[in-house]
Amino acid sequence: MDIEKFCKENCVERRGTASLKWDSLQEIFGDADLLPLWVADMEIQSPPSVRDALVKRVEHGVFGYGRMEDGYFDAFFAWQKKHHGMDLEKENVRFATGVVGSLYAAVKAYTSEDASVIICPPVYYPFYDAVLNTGRKLVTCELDNKDGYYTLDFEKFEKEIADNHVKMFILCSPHNPVSRVWSEEELDAMFDICRRHGVLVVSDEIHQDFSYEGKKFLSSALVKGGKYKDILILLNSGSKTFNLAGLIHSHVIIFDKGLMETYDQYIKGIGSPEVNIMGVAGMEAAFRGGEEWLDNVKSLILHNYNYMKQEFARELPKVIVTPLEGTYLSWTDLRGYLDGGEPPGLSRRNAVWPVT
Ligand SMILES: Cc1ncc(COP(=O)(O)O)c(C=O)c1O
Repeated sequence: MDIEKFCKENCVERRGTASLKWDSLQEIFGDADLLPLWVADMEIQSPPSVRDALVKRVEHGVFGYGRMEDGYFDAFFAWQKKHHGMDLEKENVRFATGVVGSLYAAVKAYTSEDASVIICPPVYYPFYDAVLNTGRKLVTCELDNKDGYYTLDFEKFEKEIADNHVKMFILCSPHNPVSRVWSEEELDAMFDICRRHGVLVVSDEIHQDFSYEGKKFLSSALVKGGKYKDILILLNSGSKTFNLAGLIHSHVIIFDKGLMETYDQYIKGIGSPEVNIMGVAGMEAAFRGGEEWLDNVKSLILHNYNYMKQEFARELPKVIVTPLEGTYLSWTDLRGYLDGGEPPGLSRRNAVWPVT
């Protein structure tokens, strides 16, 4: 489809719609007139199939408690199979109100209060919060940055794990913000270290549907034919894919029976939440009818990325734009223009921000 036509038909004004990204600028950054690039949601309306399903729900007019029907599983499993080659069973899936909440749940369910948890910065800031706000010890292994391309130093990773007796690794795959789509070899190397040191892996795969140009996302569950399923807690959702974050609906996928029992026990202990009927209706419809829409959105992202890169190269050549492998965020290094200073706002990472 013509990108301009797609934008005209699907992009809308979000200011004044109680949007966290657009309507919090004054409160958070002290300037309502900024262009907000700090939240991973879009200015694009969700697929028509989603809007139709939600309208149907609204027209029914009753918003009582919901339950998961077979149709949801069918649609979700078909999407996973077609797009990621993953076979899922109902018994391996639980529902949650968001991936970030599930990061906290995983830390609390599987680690003791004095445990160490490792993350690989630069990484989505709630990863820090899920460790620090639950009182666990934060261990970091910075990714190596070579001209804007980020990799993990496996020796350093193993040393941090061993030295700090780490019990859990929170992986971002694809990695927000550095846009890496990890290769099978890289994932295998990470997980092999984790297995040898008794470390559980929480794999945040919320951006799984965004990989570009020859890079193919591989779920942690499929690495080396499923070799690491027994140490894995996998988190995903259609929320980034179809711009449904506000409908707060996500998946927790656990293959190991013992790990699932522990998870269920933990959830029982905090009072199990019901599912959000709008989130369920919207996401099922997205899995069923959102494919063409997503193709257009990815073309648009790629177009914008190439345009941005080209303009930076022409106007601000010292800007380093990280190659776009995955996610729909751009990681751009402006330090070439900062004379050794930090960009304003960096220290905000520890501020109490809304979770996004
Ligand atoms: C890596 C990553 N995980 C999780 C989330 C948020 O997930 P949720 O809205 O389901 O809590 C985001 C949002 O930007 C993200 O980038």
